[in-house]
Amino acid sequence: MTRLVLGGSGYLGRALVERWDAVGLSSRDVDIRDTAAVDALFASMRPSEVVNAAYRQDDRATTCDGAVHVAAAAAATGARLVQLSTDVVFDGEKGEPYTEADEPTPLTDYGRAKADAERGVLAACPAALVVRTSLIYGGDRPGPQERLAADPGATFFSDEVRCPIQVGDLAAALIELAATQRSGLLHVAGADRLSRAEFAELLAGRRVRTATVAGSGLVRPRDCSLATGFARSLLQTRLRGAREVLESRSAP
Ligand SMILES: NC(=O)c1ccc[n+]([C@@H]2O[C@H](COP(=O)([O-])OP(=O)(O)OC[C@H]3O[C@@H](n4cnc5c(N)ncnc54)[C@H](OP(=O)(O)O)[C@@H]3O)[C@@H](O)[C@H]2O)c1
Repeated sequence: MTRLVLGGSGYLGRALVERWDAVGLSSRDVDIRDTAAVDALFASMRPSEVVNAAYRQDDRATTCDGAVHVAAAAAATGARLVQLSTDVVFDGEKGEPYTEADEPTPLTDYGRAKADAERGVLAACPAALVVRTSLIYGGDRPGPQERLAADPGATFFSDEVRCPIQVGDLAAALIELAATQRSGLLHVAGADRLSRAEFAELLAGRRVRTATVAGSGLVRPRDCSLATGFARSLLQTRLRGAREVLESRSAP
């Protein structure tokens, strides 16, 4: 039984490979934009379970088209597929947490690429599970969130809300879900709804400079909180809130 993590050199992918008996591949091993390369990989490796954590924020060909190539190859070879997606498929204007039943309303190119990837993946491979998640943090080495919070010159929005998830919790949940037959959409995120400023202060352990999206003139999804009740009812893994994870870290 071969397990495969695409994006295995990334922040989430590394955490998955560490916890799972899986082969982790980077873009140097296989470029998922290349349909023939993806098909050849699946034909030779015949993976039983695949998590696709590969993406590039500013490259639709990877984030959307590549995900659909992977889904088609998974369907053709009967591999179990779990595809990662994001909370920013939503516009952040709902005023309460988004459920799996809410329609995507992306504001950014990245959000649009991910929303189109979700649809394309489920059309190519209806048995796949698409997991929407939020800001990922808390790995062995500082990731993008930690690096930003450590920058004394950075400013953080106090009116942009997310449900950050610790990377080990997310990896454990994905491993659990890969072993099920569940398909469709699922929201897997941390228990706490936090502003970007609150989250940065927890990560940095100090006060940070704040601003508001409203005052910035930027078009950004403001409150992309995810309702995770369905995932919690399915999972043994606890999806801890960032307060529990980060405040316990600094406790004596
Ligand atoms: N990070 C977050 O806060 C966050 C929030 C919500 C959702 N997500 C989702 O979670 C997933 C993982 O995110 P991450 O932060 O772990 O990503 P990451 O650290 O940026 O890693 C991206 C991975 O994708 C690979 N990759 C990029 N282009 C590729 C291509 N054309 N073909 C094959 N592989 C390619 C990279 O390989 P190289 O090392 O060779 O570049 C790397 O292994 C993504 O689907 C993302 O949308 C992340």
